[in-house]
Amino acid sequence: MEFLELAKHRYSARKYKNKEIEEDLLNYVLESGRIAPSANNTQPWVFIVVKNENKDKLRECYHREWFNSAPVYIVICGNHQQSWKRASDGKDHCDIDASIATDHMTLAATEKGLATCWVCNFNTQMVTALLGLPEHIEPIAILSVGYPDDSADIKRHGTKRKKFNDVVFYEGYK
Ligand SMILES: Cc1cc2nc3c(=O)[nH]c(=O)nc-3n(C[C@H](O)[C@H](O)[C@H](O)COP(=O)(O)O)c2cc1C
Repeated sequence: MEFLELAKHRYSARKYKNKEIEEDLLNYVLESGRIAPSANNTQPWVFIVVKNENKDKLRECYHREWFNSAPVYIVICGNHQQSWKRASDGKDHCDIDASIATDHMTLAATEKGLATCWVCNFNTQMVTALLGLPEHIEPIAILSVGYPDDSADIKRHGTKRKKFNDVVFYEGYK
């Protein structure tokens, strides 16, 4: 599949089949996150897989019926002690790096016939307590992962995204 086609096939899946993910497939997804680029190659992330004893408690951190159907969750955490800060303004690149790794995983999952949904609207204090995260480790996103039991129109980007000319500028702002 060409990259643009793969990217269009990725969608936010909000209903999953009651089917486990094979270990090699899950590891493929996680490996795709591990090899992601990061500012100054700091790799300021850990990926916490939740699929057994902490699953029910993680579901309490984001109360949506659909969220309960996912067999696996990957909690992408950023390490603010490791992340690169830009000298000119101190900007912490932790979120950027964690997001790149997360998106690698969404696309790798899509390639393998799995589906994902980014979730950021969770209760951060609850996730931090549940996973025992120290202060410098921030839960940035949760990816629900599973075999989808829903679908999305791969042509939706024609109407559900801003138009090409509204986001691509040349040589300056507008
Ligand atoms: C950073 C980020 C955070 C998101 N957080 C949530 C969330 O908390 N809950 C949710 O249902 N979807 C969440 N989404 C999914 C977006 O709503 C979705 O990507 C967007 O509407 C485009 O739809 P698509 O992914 O199906 O193309 C998030 C997506 C991103 C990139």
